[in-house]
Amino acid sequence: MTITLAFDVYGTLIDTHGVKVSLAEMMGDKADLFSTLWREKQLEYSFRRGLMQNYQDFAVCTRDALEYCCLQLGEDLSAEQKQRLLQEYRKLPAFSDVEPCLKQLQQGDYRMFAFSNGHADAVTGLLQHAGIDQYFAGVVSVDEIKSFKPNPAVYAHFLRRSGASGAQAWLISSNPFDVIGAVSAGMSSAWVQRSPQAVFDPWGIEPTITLTSLTDLDSGISGNTP
Ligand code: 2OP
Repeated sequence: MTITLAFDVYGTLIDTHGVKVSLAEMMGDKADLFSTLWREKQLEYSFRRGLMQNYQDFAVCTRDALEYCCLQLGEDLSAEQKQRLLQEYRKLPAFSDVEPCLKQLQQGDYRMFAFSNGHADAVTGLLQHAGIDQYFAGVVSVDEIKSFKPNPAVYAHFLRRSGASGAQAWLISSNPFDVIGAVSAGMSSAWVQRSPQAVFDPWGIEPTITLTSLTDLDSGISGNTP
């Protein structure tokens, strides 16, 4: 039986903290805090826009969150510096376990998709830049229905677009809100714990499996497939 995999992109395949080198050049040791707040605000803006039904491209959430961080942390970045950071956001690196994982899965009976809050063009560009686009059967973006994760409609949209059904489709994500959204929508899910400090939300809705490296994904899925 072919298993369909929906890989989350930002934070799972692609490292959103790849901008830290440039941030450190611009603001020294505030870079870590800035990078973390930027990511948190970007997601908060997507949640709020989803709830308000005031959809804008995820790149708008990213840009507005950058402006917020400059104000909140008192960093007076120039227009050129902001532009440079946003350009880099389109070329973020993949995590080191991604390609070995995709290569391994390619040998098995899997169909792999990238499934993201990001616009399909932005996601395709990231995958190409990281040299991993050839592993995917397609990119499914929430932009196609103008909402954001974890609206149940976006997971239903993924299932429709991929032609997969319920538990035979797995969401692979480092983002607990994404995992909880997918499990609630009837999908199986792997939570990738990207750092020992990452905590899974204690809602009583658990991932099907938890991994610390994507290279354990194949064996984790095999052990949880009837
Ligand atoms: C993504 O959809 C949630 O940002 C994450 O790629």
